[in-house]
Amino acid sequence: MRRTLIFILSTFVACTHKTSEQRVDSSLEKEQAYIRAIEGEDEHLDSETIKRGEVLISYSDCAECHKSDKKAKGPAFQDIAKRYPIKQVYIDLLAQKVKSGSRGSWGSPIMPPHPRITDEDAKAMVSYILSLEIQP
Ligand code: HEC
Repeated sequence: MRRTLIFILSTFVACTHKTSEQRVDSSLEKEQAYIRAIEGEDEHLDSETIKRGEVLISYSDCAECHKSDKKAKGPAFQDIAKRYPIKQVYIDLLAQKVKSGSRGSWGSPIMPPHPRITDEDAKAMVSYILSLEIQP
């Protein structure tokens, strides 16, 4: 009787253990599918530009839709940093998107345009966002 009970118990533990592992697997897959990381070596970022970008973001409306570490209306800045390698082409592309708006990269919500932000300021903001991968 006791043996049967131990057997049942250990099978139960083994099963619940397996499901939690599977759950971790599927949430990891979900995260990978959402982030769709692009391969590429990171380039050096200038620390002054990163600081300037952080200040510019704090004075703009970005926080209404973006948080550093959690998805809000827009994707988490850290998730954006995980997707794009730190390369000039991506900094230029994303700066352009901040200025002209973006849709379809992260699901259905839309980012409105910010036409009054200059190229240089938008690039500094994006540099700060991409730097969050290496300095969370
Ligand atoms: C009204 C909400 C809103 C505001 C304000 C906003 N964003 Fe966004 N942002 C979004 C949404 C939604 C997306 C995802 C759009 C998509 O899927 O293409 C996004 C995407 C992005 C992306 C990634 C684009 C891509 O193609 O991967 C960057 C970079 C970004 N935002 C930066 C900023 C910065 C910098 C500011 C402030 C100047 C800002 N956002 C203000 C909602 C917003």
